[in-house]
Amino acid sequence: MRFNSVGFALSVGMALVVVLIGFTLLSAAGLAGFSSQSFASETSRPIAVDTLAAQPQDSLAVPASAEEVAAIAAGDALFKTNCAQCHAVNEVIVGPALAGISKRRPVSWLLPWIKNSSKVVASGDEYAVAIYNKYSKQQMPSFALSDTEIKSILAWVAVEEANGAVTAAVAFR
Ligand code: HEC
Repeated sequence: MRFNSVGFALSVGMALVVVLIGFTLLSAAGLAGFSSQSFASETSRPIAVDTLAAQPQDSLAVPASAEEVAAIAAGDALFKTNCAQCHAVNEVIVGPALAGISKRRPVSWLLPWIKNSSKVVASGDEYAVAIYNKYSKQQMPSFALSDTEIKSILAWVAVEEANGAVTAAVAFR
């Protein structure tokens, strides 16, 4: 009886080891397939937004009030309707990547630029002429957007670029 139960325990132990090895091999293979696929979708918003929400000390990126949340949501929609065909936050499409734009240019430059960029180029503004030439003199259309709408687009860009930084940090960890 005692001998039997030891034998039984041993064979259960062996079976467990076999199952464990099998499981380890399977999950290693599964993980490899999973990570290469999920890399492209690492930039998807829900992950990034969650990450940001978990870091309230990042005051620049985290909207403080319901008003700001609404403005950023409006900016998201406005960007998709008006800008996304030529711009992305972190990559060049037809026009430049917009990440960091609020650090490159003051709002006092961005408002007239987005409303009517050719007017700013025509005024001889050095930065405007340089970027216009850099992008093969391709003219950005003018937009009948209000200051508030443009600021909400810029706020959304700022949140997105922060998300991108957090996501990159996670992805390359
Ligand atoms: C049809 C394509 C197109 C659309 C649509 C478009 N842009 Fe542009 N944008 C460009 C190009 C091209 C440039 C580079 C400058 C140039 O060639 O005039 C540019 C430049 C810019 C710049 C300056 C970037 C820098 O790095 O200095 C900002 C800011 C900008 N666009 C914002 C916007 C916003 C905001 C919208 C939507 C409301 C928008 N653009 C819609 C094509 C476009």
